[in-house]
Amino acid sequence: MTIRTKLTLSVTLLFAVALGTLGLVFVRLERTQLEANAADEARIIVSTVERAARDSLVQRDDLLLLSYVKFLQRQFAALSYVDVSWVEDDRVRTNHIGPAEASASAAVRSRLVPVKAPTTPGRQIQLQIGIDDGYFQDKVDAQLARIARDLARLFGIAIIAAALFSDWFARKLTRPLAALSEVAGEIGRGKLGLRLEWQSNDEVGALVAGFNQMSQRLEELDAMKKDFVSAVTHELRSPLGAIESFLNLMAGKMVGGRPTDPAQFQTYFDRIKSNVKRLSGFINDLLDVAKIERGKMECTLRPMRLQDVASEVVQFFEAKSKEQGVALISRLDANLGAVDGDPERLRQVIVNLVSNALKFTPQGGSIWIQAEQYRDAAARWLEVSVIDSGKGMDAEDQKKLFEKFGQGKNANTRVTGPRGTGLGLFIVKSIVEAHGGKVGVKSQVGRGTQFQFSVRMS
Ligand SMILES: Nc1ncnc2c1ncn2[C@@H]1O[C@H](COP(=O)(O)OP(=O)(O)OP(=O)(O)O)[C@@H](O)[C@H]1O
Ligand SMILES: [Mg+2]
Repeated sequence: MTIRTKLTLSVTLLFAVALGTLGLVFVRLERTQLEANAADEARIIVSTVERAARDSLVQRDDLLLLSYVKFLQRQFAALSYVDVSWVEDDRVRTNHIGPAEASASAAVRSRLVPVKAPTTPGRQIQLQIGIDDGYFQDKVDAQLARIARDLARLFGIAIIAAALFSDWFARKLTRPLAALSEVAGEIGRGKLGLRLEWQSNDEVGALVAGFNQMSQRLEELDAMKKDFVSAVTHELRSPLGAIESFLNLMAGKMVGGRPTDPAQFQTYFDRIKSNVKRLSGFINDLLDVAKIERGKMECTLRPMRLQDVASEVVQFFEAKSKEQGVALISRLDANLGAVDGDPERLRQVIVNLVSNALKFTPQGGSIWIQAEQYRDAAARWLEVSVIDSGKGMDAEDQKKLFEKFGQGKNANTRVTGPRGTGLGLFIVKSIVEAHGGKVGVKSQVGRGTQFQFSVRMS
């Protein structure tokens, strides 16, 4: 059963139950009122007959009473019969007014009313007044049946109107849901990037907004996955291809098991080595990511000198930066206090940041590492920055850098080196966070970039 049907049925049912209950209460109240009216009418009949009897006593006119009672019987159908007994000095004379069988009916209730008049002390009238309760009952029942019929007609119209309204309302409410399920189906069939146009300030509006966000994220993830597959393929294929071609070249330059040109041979050998390094670096990155994902990225913290690690990294990249025409220096003070860190992992952080900086800094630019101490409520920290005067990146590119496989558009316009896979900064962030620190980035297109991370001081 659809939500629309359920909603329509339940609203209509609820409405019908509410109206039914209201109707029952109304009919019950009406019955009480009608019964009270009937009792009043019975009282009026009795007192009218009584008054007529008193008048006839006073005026000594028996016939007046008899004709008046007959008149009353025509006026009040409930006045079934009246037995009038004149009692005078132990003599009793009775007259029955009304059908003979009336006094025998079970529905007729008789009331004994003695009537005396001060002007005729020896004479009185005994009235036996038969009131037909069955007449009142029938009258009440007929009136109630008419009311119930009218109410049923009215409620029927109201319930149909409620059903139509609730169906319209349910359709209005579920329309975006139906559209949402259609779009979700399309996305499920692989048509990514679909959005649903729906504006409302309620839960449905929030659901649609959340759905659109999810759809956008899926599209981004899909694009990321595609980029990653092509980057991984490239990262594996290009060093392997290079190694294969250098090996072929070397094989061609061998005569009798010896190289014909040892200097050239050495160059090929060095190229092979650097490609093997690139390959193993990439595989290590993948292994690190797998460790991070499994929560197995362990850092053994101990007091260490970060300035030494920074100098080592600068030395490591010295040849490359010179070749690229970029100045690379560490401005970390040799007397800087120790930090609590894992030297190998922090080295990996700085290597990643410096290699990124080199990738985006053109000839004539500079890269430097600097550090600043600060204190918060809990500890003393060292904030280390790797700053370059390179190409920088826009705000959009800065958003996803620290995510797995997150790369900016600028990865296509890098200065040197392979494109990479967007894992470096994800690993950097994970290592820094395992140290209890934080990472951040500031960048401006054409001006340069600053990456910083914090690490607790011993
Ligand atoms: N110094 C920088 N200047 C400008 N952009 C940068 C800089 N460092 C990083 N980026 C941007 O951040 C992205 C992510 O960097 P990250 O180190 O995570 O991946 P990568 O360098 O592209 O690949 P990998 O490090 O896995 O080889 C880069 O692709 C680039 O868009
Ligand atoms: Mg990188």
